[in-house]
Amino acid sequence: MGIVNFSLDNKVALVTGGSRGIGRAIALAFAEAGADVVVSSRKLPDLEQVAEEIKATGRKGLAIASHVAKVDESKNLVEKVKGEFGRIDILVNNAGTNPYMGPLVDAEEWAWDVVMNVNLKGPFLLSQLVARVMQEQGGGNIINIASTAGINPSGLHMYSISKAALIMMTRVMAMEWGKDDIRVNAIAPGLIKTRFSEALWKGTPAEDRAAAPEDVAGAALYLASDASRIVNGETIAVGGASGG
Ligand SMILES: NC(=O)c1ccc[n+]([C@@H]2O[C@H](COP(=O)([O-])OP(=O)(O)OC[C@H]3O[C@@H](n4cnc5c(N)ncnc54)[C@H](OP(=O)(O)O)[C@@H]3O)[C@@H](O)[C@H]2O)c1
Repeated sequence: MGIVNFSLDNKVALVTGGSRGIGRAIALAFAEAGADVVVSSRKLPDLEQVAEEIKATGRKGLAIASHVAKVDESKNLVEKVKGEFGRIDILVNNAGTNPYMGPLVDAEEWAWDVVMNVNLKGPFLLSQLVARVMQEQGGGNIINIASTAGINPSGLHMYSISKAALIMMTRVMAMEWGKDDIRVNAIAPGLIKTRFSEALWKGTPAEDRAAAPEDVAGAALYLASDASRIVNGETIAVGGASGG
C-alpha cells in the first residue's frame, strides 16, 4: 500500500462507550479495517452483542464492563486488555453523558460532578493508564470524542464546558506524549442521531438533517490510521448538515 494507509491490521483498539451509538460504529469500522477491538461500557449484555458483531468481521472482539469514571474499574480494564492482547494501540475515549440540560444558574453540584467525572476525569485517568502501556510498547494513538458544543456554546451549558476541557486535554496530551510517538486527537461531532441526543432531534426539524454514527466513525478511522500520521493535537469537527 502507498502512503495513504487506512489499514488497522494487527492493531488492538479499546473503545469506551462501545455498546451503542457512535462508539459501536467506531468499533465496527475499526474491525472492518483490520483491528481487534475491545468495547467497554457499564452494561455487559449490550457490549456482548457488539463483540459478536466485531467477531463477524473476522477480527477478535471482547466486551468488558467498566464505568469510565471509576478509576479502579479503568485499571482493571487496562490490565484485562493487556492480558488478552499484550498491547493497546488505539484508545477511543467515547463514553460521555449529559444528565442536566438546564441553565448554569440553576445547576446543582451533583450534575457538575457527574458531567466532569464521566466526560473529563474518566478520559484523563484512562488515557494516563493507557499512555503508560503505549510508552512501553513504543507508541500509540488516542482519540477523544468531544463535541461542537465544546467549540461554540450551543445551549448545552455544563456539557459544553466539559467538552471544551476535553479538547484542551487533547492538545496538552499531544504536546506531552508526541515524543513517545503517541498521537492524541479529538473529534467534535455535531448532532448525531443516537439515544444520547434523542431529545434534540426526535420529532424536530433536525430529525432529517442529523448525521449518523458512521459519519463520525469515518473521521475516527482517519485519525486511528497512518493516513493521519502527521496529525497530532487537532480536533476535527464533523458538524454535518446540522451545522453542529
Ligand atoms: N449524539 C450526538 O449528537 C453527539 C454529539 C457530539 C458528541 N457526542 C458524544 O459522543 C459520545 C457518544 O455518544 P452517543 O451519542 O453515541 O451516545 P449513546 O448512544 O447514548 O452511547 C453512549 C455510550 O456511552 C456508554 N456510557 C455512558 N456512561 C458511561 C459510563 N459512566 N461509563 C462507561 N460507559 C458509559 C453507554 O453505555 P452504558 O449505558 O452501558 O454505560 C454507551 O455505550 C459521547 O461522548 C457524546 O458526548 C454525541
